[in-house]
Parts: sequence; C-alpha cells; structure tokens
Amino acid sequence: MMADRENIVVLTGAGISAESGVATFRDKDGIWSKFDWQKLATPEAFESDQQTVYDFYNTRRHKLRDVSPNPAHEALARLEREWGGGFTLITQNIDNLHERAGSQALIHMHGEMMKIRCAECETVTPYDDDLSFDLACRACGESGRMRPHVVWFGEMPLEMEGIYRALQEADLFVAIGTSGAVYPAAGFAAEAQAMGARTLELNLEDSDITPRFDAVRRGPAGAVVPEWVEELLDA
Ligand code: APR
Ligand code: ZN
Repeated sequence: MMADRENIVVLTGAGISAESGVATFRDKDGIWSKFDWQKLATPEAFESDQQTVYDFYNTRRHKLRDVSPNPAHEALARLEREWGGGFTLITQNIDNLHERAGSQALIHMHGEMMKIRCAECETVTPYDDDLSFDLACRACGESGRMRPHVVWFGEMPLEMEGIYRALQEADLFVAIGTSGAVYPAAGFAAEAQAMGARTLELNLEDSDITPRFDAVRRGPAGAVVPEWVEELLDA
C-alpha cells in the first residue's frame, strides 16, 4: 500500500510524446538522425544562422498544433489530481502536451517551444505564430532578436534548484520515456536514490540509465503509464 503522504517525482522525456506523433530524438528516424543539433540547437547556431534555427522550430511548432496528449499524459495529470502526497512532474520535453492534459505541478527544465525569449533582455512570452526577424520584444523593443524559449546544448537547464529540492524529498522517482543520454536529467535517478528514494523506469526499451532503477516496466507509455497510475491509486 503506497502511503498517500509519499512524495512522487516523475521525469519525462520524448518517449512519452511518441504515441502522440511527436518525434523522439535518438530512436531510429529520430530528430537527431535527420538534423544536426549543432546547427540548430546551440547558441552558436542561433548567432550564425538565425533563419535556419527559426525554420527548424517553426516546423516543429506547426506540428504541435496537429497532435494531442495521449493516455500517458492524461494518466500523469490524473495522478497529480488524485494523489494525496507530494507530486512533481519534471519534463525534458518542450512540447505542451503535459499542460494540455491538465498537468500543473510541471517543470519544463529544457524550456517550452510555444514560448519565445528576447535574446537581449531575456523576457519570455507565450507566442503561437512563426518566429521571424520582424518580431520585436514587447519589453525592451529590440527587434530581430527573439529566440525559442528552449534550452540549447551548452546552456543551463531551468529551475534546477526546485528540481534538486524535489529530488531530496522524493520517496519514489519515476523516469518515463527518456534515453538517459543527456545530463543533468540523466543523473536524477542516481541523485534521488542516493537520498533514499525508490526508483522506477517506465520505458519502451532499456536506456543508458536502466541499471540505476530498482524496478523497470517495459512497453509503450500509452499503456504502461495508465496501468501504473491505476495500480498506485487503487492501492
Ligand atoms: N513509450 C515509452 N518510451 C518510448 C516510446 C514509447 N512509445 N517511444 C520511445 N521511447 C523511449 C526510447 O526507448 C528512448 O529511451 O523514449 C526514449 C527517447 O529518448 P530520446 O529520443 O533520447 O529523448 P530524451 O531522452 O527525451 O532526450 C533528452 O536530449 O536532445 C535533447 O533536449 C533534448 O530533451 C531532450 C534530451
Ligand atoms: Zn527584450
């Protein structure tokens, strides 16, 4: 029986959105098998070829309009609503499917694709249309310097203090749909475990961090996550 007062921390990666039709990064045909991240997802790329970066993110932003949350996103939103203890959802994903499924206790550690940020004054605003050079920052007035509010390779993930606080207080840490290829997220299971949490991996296949988990369940998130949540809430 899972005592209601237990604190659960969930980390999601691209795999949770795969069944919604959002491409993952490192699977066969993943985004990084088609695009060079060094030319698209680094501050240097933005400085040297801003239009190409705009095109890459505009294409992915358009795609987001045609996809919806899947049962895995919905199950996590249900767990947050019905669970009696602490619940924190950390996502590496920059899509908005967790919010659209109803999740609120959500930390986007790699930023959000449907928000833009001024490269001059750092002001962040939600924005649905295409990124372009004509865009001017509402705060400082600078134009042509708006970027996706996304953490690029070589940049610091967001809200790390809040994340480490949640990991310290976690009784159960669950990773869903992540290959464990990118730090610091790939180190969270070990951190949580070192501070006494039990760890569970829900993933389609073994990941780089599978050995870090006390338990694993294999299968598509759309089936495995609702099953796990059902068991947890029924316990
Ligand atoms: N259900 C569950 N897991 C799945 C599914 C599915 N339907 N489909 C794929 N997976 C798993 C894969 O087995 C893999 O382990 O999801 C994982 C996806 O791994 P990646 O593509 O590497 O995505 P992620 O771990 O989120 O990448 C981390 O890397 O490029 C950066 O910033 C980017 O946030 C991203 C970070
Ligand atoms: Zn500005």
